[in-house]
Amino acid sequence: MSILVINGPNLNNLGTRDPEIYGNTTLREIEDLMTQYGDVRGLTLEFFQSNHEGSIVDLLQEKGPSSQGIIINPAAFTHTSVALRDALSQIEIPVIEVHISNIHAREEFRRISYISGVATGQIVGLGTQGYLLALDYLADLFEKGGTND
Ligand code: DQA
Repeated sequence: MSILVINGPNLNNLGTRDPEIYGNTTLREIEDLMTQYGDVRGLTLEFFQSNHEGSIVDLLQEKGPSSQGIIINPAAFTHTSVALRDALSQIEIPVIEVHISNIHAREEFRRISYISGVATGQIVGLGTQGYLLALDYLADLFEKGGTND
């Protein structure tokens, strides 16, 4: 079983997109770091990035039920997508919502997340390290047999 790592719209442009907000690390570099750390923690990862809401919903329906956990940065869909929320709420596995920037300290419209209500937890504002922290959480959770203690 693997962990789905899903990145939403415009995150394929990490590295050059608003580096003062999102840093200089590319998505490929983040995925490489996650793969390396996943190996250390004994986790198998499967990566997906899309700029299309329906493609993410399709992926969640197809692969969500047979996955171990989900790490998702829904990007702009965070603030708009009931469809993504509904897709996630049908899957009975841990879901970690990650945002590189602190969405609560930015524009008003970014403070609303349609996803957080169906996520296990949310990591915001810790830069690209947030993805690795999400991996750590899931690895610890599975080692403890699924309890949150
Ligand atoms: C983001 C925050 C969102 O508001 C924004 O639309 C993104 C990236 C983040 O990682 O900080 O695309 O999810």
